[in-house]
Amino acid sequence: MHNGVIENYSDLKRELEERGHVFRSETDTEAIAHLIEEHYDGDLLAAVNATLSHLQGSYALLVIMEDTERIIAARNASPIVLGVGDSEFFAASDLTPLLDYTERVIYLDDGDVADITPDRLDIYHEGQKVERPVELVNWCVEDTRKGGFDHYMLKEIFEQPQSFYETIRAGVDEGVRRMLMDAGEITLVACGTSYHTTLVFKYLAESLCNIPIRIEMGSEFKYFTGPLRGLVIAVSQSGETTDTIAALNMAKARNCPTLAITNVQGSTLTRVADRTLLMRAGPEIGVAATKSYTAQLAALIQIINLRCEGMFNDILSHAHLAIGDILLYDVEDAVALCSQADHAFFIGRGPFYPVAMEGALKMKEISYVHAEGYAAGELKHGPFALLTPETPVIAICAPGSTYNVMVSNVKEVKARRAPVIALGVEGDTELPEIADIFIPIPDTHLLVQVLTASVVLQLLAYHTACALGRDVDRPRNLAKSVTVE
Ligand code: M6R
Repeated sequence: MHNGVIENYSDLKRELEERGHVFRSETDTEAIAHLIEEHYDGDLLAAVNATLSHLQGSYALLVIMEDTERIIAARNASPIVLGVGDSEFFAASDLTPLLDYTERVIYLDDGDVADITPDRLDIYHEGQKVERPVELVNWCVEDTRKGGFDHYMLKEIFEQPQSFYETIRAGVDEGVRRMLMDAGEITLVACGTSYHTTLVFKYLAESLCNIPIRIEMGSEFKYFTGPLRGLVIAVSQSGETTDTIAALNMAKARNCPTLAITNVQGSTLTRVADRTLLMRAGPEIGVAATKSYTAQLAALIQIINLRCEGMFNDILSHAHLAIGDILLYDVEDAVALCSQADHAFFIGRGPFYPVAMEGALKMKEISYVHAEGYAAGELKHGPFALLTPETPVIAICAPGSTYNVMVSNVKEVKARRAPVIALGVEGDTELPEIADIFIPIPDTHLLVQVLTASVVLQLLAYHTACALGRDVDRPRNLAKSVTVE
């Protein structure tokens, strides 16, 4: 079994074929099997070790020989977690599948090779035997069940009040607190949904407490880093996203203090970063990030609260209730519109711009309706050309300084005959008049509105995907953890 990418696969394949090996597949993994065969002279561990010296790239490798009860595991830049049972061991690429069998786990480090038999485990690093601690998992197997929901995604959407609350309640330890309070410049790196949470954070932190924040996409950062100073925070649900880990490693190489915000205790990111702020979302199984998104926001908003000397304590202690109020929202009319569309635009301003980007990401990844998130003012700079009566525009029109201009944007969209689904606050009398569908969210503090608006968009994506009969929890071509570059 191999997770990862062998980058020198073509060279290895050519050399192996010259030596008479016959390949049966186009996979890079097969080159590993041929190399092991070539090096094997009765000792599987030695054969795997010899093979590893030829490999360039990433691998989580489990090697088993027919009719033997021995597994050799090797890790480089792709995670392996070992489960410790009673006279048995397990190996997986993340914690979740192990929870059915054991709560005791061992995280392998890059460069580790493990020799596993039912009653013995030896771990080697650079040829030397090493000890890796057995850790107790803070998740339980019930967390990995669907619990009566049709999909993990819906269950996870419904778990958000709790995961938000738990993340706030856990707070930050003294080391993390000091790190955050001492930070001058702060850079955040992340990918995908986690990148969107960092963008929301930037808008909130800069506007609510005047902290300048730099945001970098993990996948770009490695190649275009630019000058880097101050605290670097990597945000990742899984803690295993290769690009985010690479970015954090680069920050370390430049002597920046580093903090990981992640949901998975023991994940690679936690072992790379100087310190960790653990989100308390519990296992997230649906490929689409939902509860991890709001838990990340909980962790990030706590940073704002810390830096603002607890100014938002009250708001944060009640925010989960507002999220709970959203869960039973009826978005049927909006779903009917979106499920007939091939394209949709999500628009917002300020922190609602990345909320719109996230809404669009959710929509496209699970319903396959092509959706784009735009800063509302940008639509007229090109995308207007795409507006038709079949192109819904989902507009987040929160109260405040951008409300009037958002209303103008909605009118502009309507003038191009595109249907508008507007999110605004309860009691708004203008939006229901001009939008085709109005979805009211509670009139709360900005910090809470970004959460409630996001949850509405998750529900919209979820129900649209269901209406279209999509495989919600396992959308095509996607993986939960992206452990390749
Ligand atoms: O585990 P991470 O938060 O680092 O994952 C980053 C992205 O792959 C992830 O957020 C992805 O965009 C979501 N699954 C989309 O819903």
